[in-house]
Amino acid sequence: MRAGRSGLAIFALLAAAGAAFAHGGATGIVKERMDAMSEIGDQMKLVGGMIKGGTYDAAQVSAAGGTIASHAGSALVELFPEGSLQAPTEASPAIWTDWATFQASASELEEAALALEGLADKGAGRAEIAPAFRTLAETCKTCHQSFRIKK
Ligand code: HEC
Repeated sequence: MRAGRSGLAIFALLAAAGAAFAHGGATGIVKERMDAMSEIGDQMKLVGGMIKGGTYDAAQVSAAGGTIASHAGSALVELFPEGSLQAPTEASPAIWTDWATFQASASELEEAALALEGLADKGAGRAEIAPAFRTLAETCKTCHQSFRIKK
């Protein structure tokens, strides 16, 4: 248990350093949404780590689902005013030519995060959480593939 926890802490530190690097020079709305996405990413790492091993805590999974949901749906799309492509953004201009798909993707993220939260609130264990976590992770991938240009 001890090794698992400290391993996770190191992982979290590395992730935070990576995010700080990616953020370099971002300001305004671009920084705001990068921060929101980083927080989503941190929560995913936390839950992913718990599924793989370490200490499982349903309350933490629930909180993570809630935090992700709070950055999803309309809260997410509001961070993408038309044409906000200031460097060092990784946002694709396709967001505004295919806004309906982008919005739908943001809603799918919200639904999947709320589903995870709901399961955890019912005291679901690792085995039950794992498929919901995978579904949630799929929504990240789907949106990133169409709307994020990784630099
Ligand atoms: C509705 C679309 C959408 C969904 C869903 C989505 N993302 Fe993103 N994400 C983006 C876009 C667009 C960017 C690039 C933002 C920018 O650079 O301005 C991004 C950027 C990121 C970044 C980089 C942030 C930075 O510091 O530059 C991380 C990390 C991230 N997303 C994690 C996630 C995770 C994890 C999920 C799923 C739980 C997720 N995202 C779901 C659209 C989405």
